[in-house]
Amino acid sequence: MILYFSGTGNCKYVAEQIAAAIGDKAVPVENNDGRIDLKKGEIFGMVFPTHFWEMPAIMREFLEKASITAEGENYAFAIATYGTTPGCSGTDAKKLLQKKGVSLSAAFSLKMPDNWTPMFNLSDAEKVRRQNVEADKNLAVLIENIKAKIKGNRATPKAPYFVRAMSDKMYLKARMTSNFYVEDSCIGCGLCAKQCPVQAIEIQNRKPVWVKEHCTLCLRCLHLCPKFSIQYGDGKTKQHGQYHHP
Ligand SMILES: Cc1cc2nc3c(=O)[nH]c(=O)nc-3n(C[C@H](O)[C@H](O)[C@H](O)COP(=O)(O)O)c2cc1C
Ligand code: SF4
Ligand code: SF4
Repeated sequence: MILYFSGTGNCKYVAEQIAAAIGDKAVPVENNDGRIDLKKGEIFGMVFPTHFWEMPAIMREFLEKASITAEGENYAFAIATYGTTPGCSGTDAKKLLQKKGVSLSAAFSLKMPDNWTPMFNLSDAEKVRRQNVEADKNLAVLIENIKAKIKGNRATPKAPYFVRAMSDKMYLKARMTSNFYVEDSCIGCGLCAKQCPVQAIEIQNRKPVWVKEHCTLCLRCLHLCPKFSIQYGDGKTKQHGQYHHP
């Protein structure tokens, strides 16, 4: 099983490509019932975006609560897609699985367009296309490594684990839904509420309202809105464009 979380499609694409290559299935973390029973020799993959140098909160919380059993030796791998650095996310995956009695065989990272548009600019479609072409080449190599069941923490560039204490505080603050706002162009279609993986949005009086104090900050609502009406923070997101993996 390839378990994945994806805000804007990068990890969905990666998980589905790997599953197709090894004859397995890709399962979104939102659709899993919290039970993973691995048969002897079964491959268990986790694919997730890097969020603030970490594994995203939704994936971490799932793994913390999940019941994971393994019949015998397995090949377990984690892939953090990222834009600038996967930071501590490989180590996160290793530590979380360890608590379930499963050892992570390999951690990888894959550079892809950076959907953190409060900072990064994805408005140049040709540049983004080239980034995805490059990612495809690296994904082909990654798939061969998985087929060969290579081991070790190969997620690069790494960050020392102690920085996570600082990044974690920044991540929690950034996840406050009060950072979002909606422009008048909103047509009240409800797509943002329907697509939110943690049900943080409700449509009230034909406008989205964030009903939870924190969300997992995948930016799916911002990037998928048909009117590009959802913005975050100081408004740079408007200039930096919307993104979804092609
Ligand atoms: C809240 C947030 C934080 C992010 N933090 C990082 C980061 O620390 N390092 C990095 O390289 N990329 C970071 N990114 C970029 C994503 O990891 C990257 O674009 C990923 O491929 C998105 O995958 P998805 O389309 O499956 O959601 C961040 C993105 C978001 C939305
Ligand atoms: S997806 Fe966009 S247009 Fe539709 S309700 Fe949400 S903010 Fe409004
Ligand atoms: S509110 Fe938006 S950014 Fe937050 S989890 Fe839901 S879809 Fe993702």
